[in-house]
Amino acid sequence: MLILAYLLGSIPSGVWVGKLFFHKDIRQFGSGNIGTTNTYRVLGPIAGTLVMILDIAKGSIATMLPVFFHSYTISPLVFGIAAILGHTFSIFDHFKGGKAVATSAGMLLAYRPELFLIAAGIWISLIFITSMVSLASMIAFSIITIIAFAMQEHLLAILALVLTIFIFYRHKTNIKRILAGNENLVPFGLYYWW
Ligand code: G3P
Repeated sequence: MLILAYLLGSIPSGVWVGKLFFHKDIRQFGSGNIGTTNTYRVLGPIAGTLVMILDIAKGSIATMLPVFFHSYTISPLVFGIAAILGHTFSIFDHFKGGKAVATSAGMLLAYRPELFLIAAGIWISLIFITSMVSLASMIAFSIITIIAFAMQEHLLAILALVLTIFIFYRHKTNIKRILAGNENLVPFGLYYWW
């Protein structure tokens, strides 16, 4: 089940959608990332939405593997983490990959749907304020970590903390651009219009 979760997470949705439907390798355009934001940036909103759904689904399906296999010996979060590791160190992409946001959100959706909805609300609101998906993603995961600690969901809280640190690390080039004032903006939102 762990191997299956890792393989699921490894599916590089952005690369495959780009190559299959647009004959374009998104790794060679925009930020070079294989996630939703860069797919949206390079291939448009339909492709971006498709990749977001696929990347979220990878995390959710992996987290639900214990349910499908009727095997509950370890926490489903372990399988979510395996999928996130697959997404970021993909066996189908020379052990490179994305920035862990959508697949982590998928794990949250399967494990605590109410926290996923809160995270999605925060994420969308922050995108509309800052016009920066990277900043919105990092802040949304930080807030979810605080909420998980406040709810005394100990395992989830600790994993969320580790994941948030990892997500910040995967966004190091974004952080440099944010600090330099030249992060890529989405073409809407208060900061973009201002
Ligand atoms: O999930 C990735 C997003 O937060 C940033 O993507 O392409 O702007 O580096 P990108």
